[in-house]
Amino acid sequence: MRRKIIAGNWKMNKTIVEAQALARAIKDKVGNVTAPVVLVCPPFTALTETAMLLKDSEIQLGGQNMHEAESGAFTGEISSEMLLTSGCAYVILGHSERREFFSESDKLVNAKTIKALEAGLIPIVCVGETLDQRESGDMKKVIEEQVTGSLDSLSESDMKKTVIAYEPVWAIGTGKTASPEQAEEVHVHIRTILAEKYGRETAEVVSILYGGSVKASNADGLFCKNNIDGALIGGASLKADEFSAVVNAMESAGG
Ligand code: 13P
Repeated sequence: MRRKIIAGNWKMNKTIVEAQALARAIKDKVGNVTAPVVLVCPPFTALTETAMLLKDSEIQLGGQNMHEAESGAFTGEISSEMLLTSGCAYVILGHSERREFFSESDKLVNAKTIKALEAGLIPIVCVGETLDQRESGDMKKVIEEQVTGSLDSLSESDMKKTVIAYEPVWAIGTGKTASPEQAEEVHVHIRTILAEKYGRETAEVVSILYGGSVKASNADGLFCKNNIDGALIGGASLKADEFSAVVNAMESAGG
């Protein structure tokens, strides 16, 4: 059975004190949940304090990005080792905001993914099409390019450890969720791409999360789809009640 994951991407929100309050509230509600995996990804500045607060809970910690090099003269960047030693087990890579505002290419996302795996972090590699690409009929091609480019040259065992997040750009922060059928269609497409490259057995163990305006009111519909293994949540992850309700929805759908 595939690992189910509910992840909160806090993006550039929350000071240390605010992050502690949010983490505490989430811990009170879902701190003992083991299936699904509950994951929060605060900004770098709040990782250590959040890790300390969560250490007697089941909640996992992740970074929102990292550099592909081991260390060195890369002003403003953060390394895999820094994430690991701050308490992270996961790292989000290639988020559409990184691709759009920081010009991250599939090639760069691939280098970061390889580095994360080498360091022992679980990468959550994001892919997703824009509205233009969907409307012009290019969605499947764009997703295939992003999946194969971002995951290029991964071994079968590394592929099995990697998590993919499908986040249609047009659904992020817009209140427009992909319908469960639209999301499922793309998740099946991604699994087929993986099966062609790695075989069915490997493709079947890779968790594929959906992201884009997920909240308590639309979670049930998404989670009853066979290929939707959880969610990567932005806005709603900043509210403990809402985020925990999505965790509970995944638990009810079979964790
Ligand atoms: P929203 O849930 O705010 O649409 O953000 C989704 C996202 O980008 C998670 O990484």
